[in-house]
Amino acid sequence: MADALIGSAAAPLQFIRDHTALLAPPLVPEIRLYQASEITPIWQATEDALDEMGLPPPFWAFAWAGGQALARWLLDTPEMVLGKRVLDFGSGSGLSGIAAAMAGAAQVTANEIDHVAAAAIKLNAEVNNVGLDILIEDLVGGSCVWDVILAGDVCYEQQPAARIVGWLREMARDVPVYLGDPNRTYLPKDGLEQVAQYSVQTTREIEDTDVRNARVWRVLPD
Ligand SMILES: C[S@@+](CC[C@H](N)C(=O)[O-])C[C@H]1O[C@@H](n2cnc3c(N)ncnc32)[C@H](O)[C@@H]1O
Repeated sequence: MADALIGSAAAPLQFIRDHTALLAPPLVPEIRLYQASEITPIWQATEDALDEMGLPPPFWAFAWAGGQALARWLLDTPEMVLGKRVLDFGSGSGLSGIAAAMAGAAQVTANEIDHVAAAAIKLNAEVNNVGLDILIEDLVGGSCVWDVILAGDVCYEQQPAARIVGWLREMARDVPVYLGDPNRTYLPKDGLEQVAQYSVQTTREIEDTDVRNARVWRVLPD
């Protein structure tokens, strides 16, 4: 299955279409995404094979609880991004960026380091009739050229979380930065201000529970 990921530039698009279903995340029924489902359990099926090929696991195939919370909050409080240039850092499926575009953002950059995720974001943006700029680059350490920054569910590994949150705090000196998170292990214990809270239905393929309590936090500068 994972062999389809190597080869032509079209291969990731075909892989995504072949191994996911078009589904709405439970907390955000307005948006449809190419997602893994019970009948397309690609996390277990592909993680090892992708790892052997030096590719990351298919984070893009799930609407993570933190991203669902961010997306719900943006659709319900569109004034947070209306007319603004928005960065969706670690965009995955593109969920939060798509919500920002639907909420009226002037321009949305969906950012990833995984080129398969970038293909998923392209497909998901098309299906939801929104335009996103897709940027495959590690932006951590760079300067801020946006009005608002979003980051959904990025605190799942110790060192990357520390590096990412450190950079988000730097960005928070200049612009509002919002983090969606279901209390992951490496979420900082302080320097965050809660702006919303949701009960989010998730899948046992990636979580150890069916429902997670996810919050939208404003990241405070150092
Ligand atoms: C758990 S997923 C969350 C995806 C999405 N934000 C959501 O909430 O559904 C985390 C994503 O962050 C991306 N990521 C990790 N480190 C990154 C970095 N330095 N720059 C950009 N993306 C990164 C991963 O590739 C992955 O797709």
